[in-house]
Amino acid sequence: MSDIGIYFGTDTGTTRLIAKKLAKKLDAIVTGKTAAKPLNVNRTGVEQFMAHDSLILGTPTYGINQLPGKSTNIAEGSWEEFLPLLEGQDFSGKVVALYGLGDQEKYSGRFVDSMIHLYRFFSERGAGIVGQTDTDGYSFEFSMAVVEGRFVGLVLDQQTQPLLSEERMDRWLADIGPQL
Ligand SMILES: Cc1cc2nc3c(=O)[nH]c(=O)nc-3n(C[C@H](O)[C@H](O)[C@H](O)COP(=O)(O)O)c2cc1C
Repeated sequence: MSDIGIYFGTDTGTTRLIAKKLAKKLDAIVTGKTAAKPLNVNRTGVEQFMAHDSLILGTPTYGINQLPGKSTNIAEGSWEEFLPLLEGQDFSGKVVALYGLGDQEKYSGRFVDSMIHLYRFFSERGAGIVGQTDTDGYSFEFSMAVVEGRFVGLVLDQQTQPLLSEERMDRWLADIGPQL
């Protein structure tokens, strides 16, 4: 049985910090599987990524309608550069849970938009996406990451609601844990 892969993109490190917290919490609640050491997507390869049956994938949002990467000034690259490497892969039978970071006050009209790109990419390639969450408790004008009234994954705002994150993570992991 493979362990749970945790991969993230980041510029200023917040999404990495959350990945580490999720890994620690996950090990405390899921029996039978352990969390792999969280890795930046710019430090992995296709083979390593595909070795997991369950994946937790995190991204911040920088800019309109795009994934973080060289075009958002992350010199070492990020999701923008890694996703094309996965283009021909089949994710059927794999379970993917997404989390996204953003700032609902400053970027109220494009809150956590980047998550939608991960959602589309992996669902189009057969992955089962788990861990959709309610938008209650957030205040924003628009988010591409809302599909049929729910966020496509866990949404955390370390800028304006940092004190809510622990509980949001705990609730989310309790929800997705048995499905991973
Ligand atoms: C230049 C810039 C642009 C941003 N654009 C967005 C955005 O479009 N939508 C959003 O929700 N958050 C946006 N944010 C907020 C970041 O996504 C948020 O601070 C996140 O926690 C950063 O994660 P990181 O530390 O892992 O890079 C932006 C932040 C900066 C500095």
